[in-house]
Amino acid sequence: MNKRNVIVYIAMSLDGYIATKDDNLDWLFAVEGEGDNGISDFYHTVDTVLLGKRTYDWIMDQEENFPYKDRECYVFTKSHMQDTEDVTIVNGDLIAFTNELKAKDGRDIWLVGGGEIIHHFLKADLVDQLRITIAPTLIGDGIPLFKPGYPQLEFELTGTKQFNQFIELQYVRKK
Ligand SMILES: NC(=O)c1ccc[n+]([C@@H]2O[C@H](COP(=O)([O-])OP(=O)(O)OC[C@H]3O[C@@H](n4cnc5c(N)ncnc54)[C@H](OP(=O)(O)O)[C@@H]3O)[C@@H](O)[C@H]2O)c1
Repeated sequence: MNKRNVIVYIAMSLDGYIATKDDNLDWLFAVEGEGDNGISDFYHTVDTVLLGKRTYDWIMDQEENFPYKDRECYVFTKSHMQDTEDVTIVNGDLIAFTNELKAKDGRDIWLVGGGEIIHHFLKADLVDQLRITIAPTLIGDGIPLFKPGYPQLEFELTGTKQFNQFIELQYVRKK
C-alpha cells in the first residue's frame, strides 16, 4: 500500500497571507502566472480534498459549480450540516478522521485550507508536504497561512517551479 501524503497546496502573498481579512483574493488573481500555474498536474495526484468550512463557503460563493466534484471531498465544521452531493461533512475529531483516511489505500490528500484548519494539522504534525505558490504582492494584513502556536517542524526543500510571476516552493516533512 502506498503512503498517502497530506499536502497543503496553497497560494499566499509575499507577506504570508492567504486572503485579506474580508476574504478577498483579487490580489492573487491579478498576478500574471503561466498556464494554470501547475494546478491540473497537482490535481491528478490527489483523490481526496479537505476543506475548512470558511474555505468551502468562499468557494460556493465564487463558483457556479463546485470545482472538485470528481474527488472525494470533506468539509470540516463544528456545526451540524447536511452532506451535499459533492461533499461529506466532518464534525468529529478532524485529526482522528484524517489518520483513518491516511490508513486507507488511495492517492494523496489535498488540504486546501484555510489557515485555521491548516493550523490544527500542523499542531498534530499531520502535514507531509507543503507546496506554496507565492504571489509577488505584499498585502499588509489578512488571514495568515501560518498562525503561531504549532511545534517546530522541519521540512526538506525538494523543488521549486516558476510560473512567470509566481514561484512554487515544494517541501517534504523530514521525519
Ligand atoms: N490563497 C489560497 O490558496 C486559499 C486557499 C484556501 C482558502 N483561502 C482563503 O482562506 C479563507 C478561509 O480560511 P480560514 O482560516 O478563515 O478558515 P478555514 O480554515 O477555511 O475554516 C475555518 C472553519 O473550520 C471549522 N473548524 C475549525 N476547527 C475545526 C475543528 N477542530 N473541527 C471541525 N471543524 C473545525 C470551523 O467551521 P464552523 O465555524 O462552521 O464550525 C471554522 O470556522 C478564505 O478567505 C479563503 O478564500 C485561500
